[in-house]
Amino acid sequence: IQAGACTLHSSGGFVSAHRGGAAYAPENTLLAFANAVRLGVDEIELDVQLTADGELVVIHDDTLDRTTDCSGTVGAWTLAQIRACDAAYWFAPGQATTAPDTGLAHPLRGTGVRIPSLREVLDWHATLPCPPRLSIEIKNIPGETNFDPVGTRSADVLLPLLEAYALAERIVVQSFWPPTLDAVKRRNPAIRTQLLTTSSTGQTATMNLAYTTAGGHDISAPNFDAPDFDAAFVALAHAAGKAVVPYTVDTARDQQTTLALGVDGLITNYPGCALHLRQRP
Ligand code: G3P
Ligand code: CA
Repeated sequence: IQAGACTLHSSGGFVSAHRGGAAYAPENTLLAFANAVRLGVDEIELDVQLTADGELVVIHDDTLDRTTDCSGTVGAWTLAQIRACDAAYWFAPGQATTAPDTGLAHPLRGTGVRIPSLREVLDWHATLPCPPRLSIEIKNIPGETNFDPVGTRSADVLLPLLEAYALAERIVVQSFWPPTLDAVKRRNPAIRTQLLTTSSTGQTATMNLAYTTAGGHDISAPNFDAPDFDAAFVALAHAAGKAVVPYTVDTARDQQTTLALGVDGLITNYPGCALHLRQRP
């Protein structure tokens, strides 16, 4: 794939830094995203949620508690209030998942790491000479405080932003909620869309492919350890014209096994490891 002067990796499996590479830097922050660029990833994965004043902020959970020193639901706070939270508060280097105190050291506490707005991330991305793709997950999960069954609330804010930054070529939009992704695809078919499923709620890779196909989406993204995720599934998806990009593939052994299935890319908290393996399989 050509984009400007840069060539995006297009064979052998691209590497997507989950939440910016959450094992290396505080997840979903500009610090993590800049580190992912330094590593040379092909893609940065990030999550967005709506604030009380209708801004998209980059955070995985619907609450502030797990990753910051603040407490409460993201949707009840304004962007200005959220800006005061310390996004590195619970980060422990080397740990893929931040968690309130597990006795580990948190060396980046109090160093000014903030939850970015999506606008800030897009502004930063626009300054990069050779930017990686951004894979933006619209967080819309049944049972969470901000769940939107119709699925259009965040898309209504996201799409004009992406259009303003003219980013269709270097963007993927993902969601676990098919109506959200369907709304994105309907409104802007030029944006590549990636459907997520999880076997933790009984969804199989085969179900993922069915939703992906029904919605006219581009990328099938089941969890790599779904029971039916194997080479036959990857071949089936490819025959249907869909790319396959599983998550979240963290150990070297799993990365090696997953790449050997012929996937188009993988999403990982340890992108440095996957980049190394891709060079020296
Ligand atoms: O990109 C897929 C992955 O991010 C989905 O899982 O829960 O980390 O957003 P989660
Ligand atoms: Ca995500």
